[in-house]
Amino acid sequence: MRLYDRFYSKEKDSRDIRPNDLAVQSVKHITKGEALDLGCGEGQDSIFLKQSGFNVTAIDTSKVALDNLLELAKDYNVELDVVHSDIKTFKFDKQYDFVLAEGSIHFLKNDQIKPFIRTLQDNTNVNGVHSLEFFNHKTSKNQVNSMAKWGISTIDTEVLVEYYKGWEILSMKEELQEKNEYSKRGITQLIVKKIT
Ligand SMILES: C[S@@+](CC[C@H](N)C(=O)[O-])C[C@H]1O[C@@H](n2cnc3c(N)ncnc32)[C@H](O)[C@@H]1O
Repeated sequence: MRLYDRFYSKEKDSRDIRPNDLAVQSVKHITKGEALDLGCGEGQDSIFLKQSGFNVTAIDTSKVALDNLLELAKDYNVELDVVHSDIKTFKFDKQYDFVLAEGSIHFLKNDQIKPFIRTLQDNTNVNGVHSLEFFNHKTSKNQVNSMAKWGISTIDTEVLVEYYKGWEILSMKEELQEKNEYSKRGITQLIVKKIT
């Protein structure tokens, strides 16, 4: 069984249904249109976005996560477009107004990120917003090694911001979460807007 399928195979009661801070912050900047939730997991953000006024497409490679999401969507009586796909091979058939990547782009290899972001940008309407949260390169080596089995790599915030040249930065936060001197998780939250 894939790691994330195992991770999501847990009791319904133990699932977190609160939206992430990034999704909550994002709806201050955009409130309706077509939203894409990349690596949606069990979909608490997808449901929040739908309830906030978006049409939502939610993508993940974990079938278990998507089954949990469908169960949650039924509980909340909301309809979502749920796609079992790798974000790298997702076929865009419409333009989006909001793209949320909460904890998912760091699953791409560093050389895949620039073309991937470009594809996202090309499939985003003017005035559209992208919100990304990822492990940045200030994450300690030990922490990076411990995340390797999940396929996670780290991203240099400045490099990512450079890929968004010409976009307006609405919000950018870097945080260093330290468990001890070896275990440090650098996390970046970025919210940007396509202005032309
Ligand atoms: C850290 S979880 C975040 C889940 C959700 N966005 C949240 O914040 O609760 C990362 C998610 O990305 C998914 N994922 C990882 N690599 C992926 C890929 N290449 N394509 C689609 N989903 C992927 C995993 O299955 C997992 O559900």
